[in-house]
Amino acid sequence: MRSIQLPSGRSIPLLGLGTWRMGEQSSQRQAEIAALRHGLDLGMTLIDTAEMYGEGGAERVIAEAIGDRRETVFLVSKVYPHNATRRGVMAACERSLQRLKTDHLDLYLLHWRGSVPLAETLEAFQTLKQSGKIRDYGVSNFDVSDMEEASVSAGGTAIATNQVLYNLTRRGIEWELLPWCRKHNVPIMAYSPIEQGRLLRNRTLQSIAKQHNGSPAQIAIAWLLHQENVIVIPKASRIAHVEQNQAALDLQLSREDLAALDATFPPPSKPVALEML
Ligand SMILES: NC(=O)c1ccc[n+]([C@@H]2O[C@H](COP(=O)([O-])OP(=O)(O)OC[C@H]3O[C@@H](n4cnc5c(N)ncnc54)[C@H](OP(=O)(O)O)[C@@H]3O)[C@@H](O)[C@H]2O)c1
Repeated sequence: MRSIQLPSGRSIPLLGLGTWRMGEQSSQRQAEIAALRHGLDLGMTLIDTAEMYGEGGAERVIAEAIGDRRETVFLVSKVYPHNATRRGVMAACERSLQRLKTDHLDLYLLHWRGSVPLAETLEAFQTLKQSGKIRDYGVSNFDVSDMEEASVSAGGTAIATNQVLYNLTRRGIEWELLPWCRKHNVPIMAYSPIEQGRLLRNRTLQSIAKQHNGSPAQIAIAWLLHQENVIVIPKASRIAHVEQNQAALDLQLSREDLAALDATFPPPSKPVALEML
């Protein structure tokens, strides 16, 4: 699996497995576990989750999927903003660790900006890092002004990623946030890479997919993997989808493909506020 280096020097796989909407329905549980295991078998060893997903249900599904393979997995979870106080972060992290049946997270993110002062959350993250409960920490849904504030707070320069909405239909971050993150060596983790399935009906994607004997989802993922310093975390609870998504790693988009995608999904021509799903 291709990987990049986090500011801490640790490496992170470029393509992983999202888990939003997992752990919500018991009838789906075995399929979700099988999909995650298959992804791990294929080398998609980054798993992204959050205490919010299924209110802990997704973390429980992941624990079962990982089984005794914990050391091969790069595990990411997130804390709710309303739990982001000093004590709240400690307790939320402990609950996530218990549900995930592990003693550490590889990366722990603030899910979005809430009313708790950022400095307090960052202080808690640093304490968790010192105690070995998390290896790295970062943020999610942070726009440039939030990143600027974070970067001058204690512990802010160690922020390992900003996980944001980024796909062909949501290119607003290319105006300012993406260049800012590149300049400050903060990798972007692109969520909803296929716009939760809504991108699949696009004619340009369908036509490029046909030329590559691939699928529209693969083209959307390959386009993100083509961007520098961007990690991609599609969610799939069907094995066939996991296989397609993994195969996007080998899909080389041509100059013509990229031009056709730019024409259909133009980059921003003015500032756009960060969007969130
Ligand atoms: N930080 C945040 O605020 C935030 C917000 C949103 C998402 N996220 C993270 O990012 C992950 C991905 O985003 P997402 O779940 O919103 O959307 P997504 O990955 O863009 O789309 C997921 C949907 O696409 C389908 N799909 C996946 N692969 C496919 C393929 N090859 N062909 C056709 N359909 C396919 C899935 O179906 P099946 O499940 O049926 O296979 C599912 O319905 C989340 O799961 C979560 O971990 C973070």
